[in-house]
Amino acid sequence: MADDDKILTTRQGHPVQNNQNQRTVGSRGPATLENYHFLEKISHFDRERIPERVVHARGFVAYGEFEATGKIGDEPASRYTRAKLFAEPGKKTEVAIRFSTVIGGRDSSEVARDPRGFAVKFYTEDGNWDVVGNNLAVFFIRDAIKFPDVIHSLKPDPVTFRQEPNRIFDFMSQTPESMHMLTHLFSPRGIPATYRHMEGFGVNTYKMVNAAGETVLVKFHWHPRQGVASLTDEEAAKVQGQDLGSASRDLYGAIERGDFPQWDMYVQIMSDDEHPELDWDPLDDTKIWPEDQFPLRHMGVMTLNRNVKDHHNENEQIAMGTGVIVDGLDFSDDKMLVGRTFSYSDTQRYRVGPNYLQLPVNQPRGRDGAVHTNQRGGQMSYGVDLHPSQNPHVNYEPSVHGGLHEAERQPNQPPEIHGHLVQAPLERTNDYAQARARFETMNDWERDELVKTLGGLLADCERDVQERMLWHLFMVHDDYGRRVGEVLGMTAADVRHLEPLATQRLTDAERTRLANLG
Ligand code: HEM
Repeated sequence: MADDDKILTTRQGHPVQNNQNQRTVGSRGPATLENYHFLEKISHFDRERIPERVVHARGFVAYGEFEATGKIGDEPASRYTRAKLFAEPGKKTEVAIRFSTVIGGRDSSEVARDPRGFAVKFYTEDGNWDVVGNNLAVFFIRDAIKFPDVIHSLKPDPVTFRQEPNRIFDFMSQTPESMHMLTHLFSPRGIPATYRHMEGFGVNTYKMVNAAGETVLVKFHWHPRQGVASLTDEEAAKVQGQDLGSASRDLYGAIERGDFPQWDMYVQIMSDDEHPELDWDPLDDTKIWPEDQFPLRHMGVMTLNRNVKDHHNENEQIAMGTGVIVDGLDFSDDKMLVGRTFSYSDTQRYRVGPNYLQLPVNQPRGRDGAVHTNQRGGQMSYGVDLHPSQNPHVNYEPSVHGGLHEAERQPNQPPEIHGHLVQAPLERTNDYAQARARFETMNDWERDELVKTLGGLLADCERDVQERMLWHLFMVHDDYGRRVGEVLGMTAADVRHLEPLATQRLTDAERTRLANLG
């Protein structure tokens, strides 16, 4: 474009002749009210922000592609799923990914000890698929009804606006299912060095559905080809002393210089039933599925090769959610997943607006690059998603006058469910065994870091919170309890008097541990 053409205009297309001075009576004012360009400029500025995400406010988006192997492990992908994106070897699907931290605000540190979001949007020919995951394989809670509570405990105090260990561990010490996640979070894995050097996990349990309508339970994994790297608290302090946005800078820079990061995608599979042989529930997101029993099966590789052009449009307005799945995938009854599935689109209608799906970054690139609905109107409606041959008068279905019609129905075997309506926890809670296995498989230096970081924060808590937390740590592992106890100046004798929580179900093995605590 020639320089002469680069003329600043208003959003109404009027050339701006003076962008330095308001219109005033004389050079010293008063200002006039009909000064359209000035008022538009300032009032748009006044509205530049949309509400930040209630969680995962700080994040960074990049684009790329997913290349399928056409297989799931050694078998054809079609054995488990009819989702088209996995069907053929070498098939490529465009993706957008948003990495994030969870608790801090939009401008907070990217080396905080915090889970990292790992949310991938696949723009498939059958519409979008979002895998909204984290870098840690498990979560703090297993029922969505507790999500506002766990997040409130981790967010700043509503009075002092400081993150307070006493509030966090007040909640966690009454939430024994969080011990597994806490053991991950306070280990060195709790501060990934960059977004490029971390794993991703779907965390919740989904289903795959094949052409015959047969289903299996699945969990998704991403492994970085760059390797995994983390920071200690001391290293993180140095990084954030210089730069709060170190992870975004690293990702943006790598893509700009053509050093494209890659992740292998894997899936774990189990038959779609309750698995009474396991002492944990496959629908419990505080549990991993041991890889020796449920091996990782390779499905494809994701490469990130393009940066955003505008942070607001593409990062602040991108909207991911667990409800966004394609044919060939399905929801399990995981009580976190169903709760999340309501929450994401609900918050996005509030945060971005009712027509958030019309924004380019969220628009599906369906079969013929378009979306056809009978939805009309709403704030900021940008277009009408008519089919080219659709009668524009027909925005309802069914119609015999040129309207849209349903797609062919695919076979499905809806689960047959019997039961009483209850508000009850899962039967097989088993809250300590996997945390124990994690503690035992850590290297010595990782255990040292865990004890130091967790013990250090617990030292700032009140005595009743310390006792309850220590009680759970002893239930996980004698050494875990003993070593954190040393930081706090306490032993098993100080916590032995505590009883299990009223709502807590202990296994027989846990009762034995309790009897011999410490
Ligand atoms: C973001 C709710 C659990 C990963 C969000 C947002 C909400 C939310 C409201 C903001 C979305 C937006 O404004 O666009 C919930 C609820 C949960 C839950 C109710 C539990 C019931 C989880 C879990 C994971 C997770 C278990 C990890 C597997 C994420 C990620 C984002 C996010 C990665 C950021 C998405 C983005 O980058 O735009 N969550 N969440 N959440 N959540 Fe959750």
